[in-house]
Amino acid sequence: MITDSITRRDLAVQVSKRRTFAIISHPDAGKSTLTEKILLYAGAIELAGAVRGSKSQRHVVSDWMEMERQRGISLTSTALEFDLNGFRISLLDTPGHQDFSEDTYRALVAADSVVMVIDAAKGIEAQTRKLYEVCRRHRLPILTFVNKLDQPGRDPLELMDEIETTLGIAAAPLNWPMGTGPDFGGVFDIEAQTVRMYERAYKGERRALVEVAGVEDPQIEEFAGERVTREFRESIGIIQSAGHTFDHAEYLAGRQTGVLFGSALSNFGLEPLLDALTSLAPSPRPRPTADGGLVEPEATTFSGFVFKIQANMDRRHRDRVAFVRVCSGRLLKDMVMTNARLGQEIRATRTYRMFGRDRVTSPEAVAGDIVGLVNPGRLGIGDTLWADQPVQFAAMPRFPPEHFGRLRLTDSRHKQFDDGVLQLEEEGLIQVFFPARGGRDPIVGVVGVLQFDVIASRLKSEYNVSARVEPVNAHAVVWVSGHTGDPDQLKGLDYTCLQALDRDGRPVILFPSAWARQYAQKENPGVTLADEPRA
Ligand code: G4P
Repeated sequence: MITDSITRRDLAVQVSKRRTFAIISHPDAGKSTLTEKILLYAGAIELAGAVRGSKSQRHVVSDWMEMERQRGISLTSTALEFDLNGFRISLLDTPGHQDFSEDTYRALVAADSVVMVIDAAKGIEAQTRKLYEVCRRHRLPILTFVNKLDQPGRDPLELMDEIETTLGIAAAPLNWPMGTGPDFGGVFDIEAQTVRMYERAYKGERRALVEVAGVEDPQIEEFAGERVTREFRESIGIIQSAGHTFDHAEYLAGRQTGVLFGSALSNFGLEPLLDALTSLAPSPRPRPTADGGLVEPEATTFSGFVFKIQANMDRRHRDRVAFVRVCSGRLLKDMVMTNARLGQEIRATRTYRMFGRDRVTSPEAVAGDIVGLVNPGRLGIGDTLWADQPVQFAAMPRFPPEHFGRLRLTDSRHKQFDDGVLQLEEEGLIQVFFPARGGRDPIVGVVGVLQFDVIASRLKSEYNVSARVEPVNAHAVVWVSGHTGDPDQLKGLDYTCLQALDRDGRPVILFPSAWARQYAQKENPGVTLADEPRA
């Protein structure tokens, strides 16, 4: 039964059973496959293949947007919540494509730890490196899953070395593989000193593991063969004498990553990964506030922040969901809370646990949980919510747009067009600017060009509006302050510098080059040209 009050102690027990993590990887390393296999393992979904078929007919639970299905790539982050061995796990699935890194960034801010998936044949790739940097900035503990061991891959010693040298984090294996590809024989659990044997099975339909004791157990040779066993014993000897031993405190501090080996496609190595997530990964941690304080997760007053807004997840209802990460206390259905930015109260009448596109009513959520608030009114990404005890979490930085386009409506559905553009802006997919003179077509700024395709595609499928994006020769947008707001008073701007207003009517200039910006600054010394609007 849900009561209005809860003791700090009871809350602490519940919070200790929460694990909220994100999976990051370079595209194709196997993030979607791993996500699906984790959900299957946890019993959160029932059929493999039914939810993730071949790439051409891909329909992953977490890939719900039309374009994602067509292209087989993840473009939005999703929350997937499920229960496992007495733990409530919230998996934040992040977009793999680099053009959507801002969405990934926000999901990482809402997570307490991360699983980094690496392709055993490819090692650390570009997108992994970038995402790792974000994790490092937020001091997120990272478990590394080296995937695709069923295929020929690189020497595991070399991979460990690459993690350390390219990412600058100590790599401590939690288990160690015996061979790769056709030779893959299983993994050795370094702490437990047991071996999980891998038995080949078509597309992982069968999960067959045998446990044996110790590196020297003769059974290993029976399974893996003489050569693989000899090589395995050699390399485990090297890693144990010259490598890092897993240190929980170092992992929690983000200075060391615990490494596990497996094959998501063959269902191999999931159990050790999930064990590590429940036994090693942190429960919700204190959250920093804007004024340098910390909010303890077991504090009994509710606080949280919005890290994502998504419209039209459910086509039947055409509603809008704000994803809230609960940071302290409990979020109860029908609770009244305050939006710190607007100073306005809102009532949480429709609160949901999210599972990709699906959702179930959530009468109660505690720190660590992700709650979907449906049609909550004027909530924006980064908004802090609190009840009883005012708090303001640190702001969520926006990525500066790098590509700009004029969004042209090609039919006459102006109202739907405006609604759609506003919605995509609220979701943080685009930044919108309105030309100071000439034409009503908005200029949209995005972080990656693929977002242009998403704009047109979503306007069509969700608002039945035809629009196209025409390129605009701009390199950066800057906010102008310290002048009258009259564009004619600015000097040194030629026709290539587009003057516009942001949604709140603040003047901006879109410059075609860094040089043009520098020149304008020189000509207008009393004017401030800033990368972000003034608060
Ligand atoms: P992503 O989300 O990180 O982009 O990767 P995704 O899971 O889509 O996997 C990319 C490809 O790698 C898929 O093959 C998938 O089947 C394969 N894969 C994932 N894990 C493993 C593994 O442990 N072993 C092997 N051998 N392959 C793995 P695809 O051919 O691109 O697509 P599909 O037709 O299989 O869907």
